[in-house]
Amino acid sequence: MPEQSRTAAAVWSDPDFARAWLGADPQGAADLLELPRGIAAALVAETTPEPGLIVDVAGGAGKFLAVLLDAFPSARGVLLDASDTMLDRAKTDLARFGERVDFRIGDMTQLRAAGVPEGAGAVLSSRASHHLGREELHGFYREAAGLLRPGGWLINLDHIAPDDAVWDRRYRTVRTRFTPPRPSATAHHHDGPLPTVRDHVDGYRAAGVSEADIAWKAFYTCLFVGRTPPA
Ligand SMILES: C[S@@+](CC[C@H](N)C(=O)[O-])C[C@H]1O[C@@H](n2cnc3c(N)ncnc32)[C@H](O)[C@@H]1O
Repeated sequence: MPEQSRTAAAVWSDPDFARAWLGADPQGAADLLELPRGIAAALVAETTPEPGLIVDVAGGAGKFLAVLLDAFPSARGVLLDASDTMLDRAKTDLARFGERVDFRIGDMTQLRAAGVPEGAGAVLSSRASHHLGREELHGFYREAAGLLRPGGWLINLDHIAPDDAVWDRRYRTVRTRFTPPRPSATAHHHDGPLPTVRDHVDGYRAAGVSEADIAWKAFYTCLFVGRTPPA
């Protein structure tokens, strides 16, 4: 398992940390990421009304997968995560979907080894890949894209590193008005700089996901979307 991925997963294996993070995660109208999750579902629906299988990588409690399963009532989901605590919460929070969801323990950089099946109409991830270095990120995108059926969607909602000091200063000044800082007990360490927009877009292209774009962005968080070529 690549080193940065292993370090990121280790933090979440502490049940106290994972529960504290979940307790501090905004819910309902306070959760600004409901908008990009909804945009992702709408974009998939535009081309792929029957995605069949939807995989949520490092899916945590399953917030992103839930939006897609609600949007596509005939779809099934696979949620993979490295943390038992997060998987337990996902099983509770996604219980209303019953047999439609399979839960897998595993590392986000070893999807096939964790038994994630091929043929997905969409592979999602959110708020996890920023722990990976550029090479690991590209490896993740390659493997995730390889699990997609032709015309399948690769979707990643994640935090990026700013690459412009002026915009970084502006964003830092205003963003707390919209997203209050998390309690320090739920802040987690990042080993190196976060990937940039360029790292993500290059990774999509290198993985053969040709139709790639940033469908939504606020401050340091981007919704990266793209499709593999249709058959
Ligand atoms: C910030 S939470 C986000 C959870 C969920 N994706 C969301 O946006 O609500 C990060 C998640 O990534 C998982 N994670 C971290 N490193 C991982 C790895 N190497 N492989 C699989 N899951 C990992 C954690 O267990 C945790 O559930």
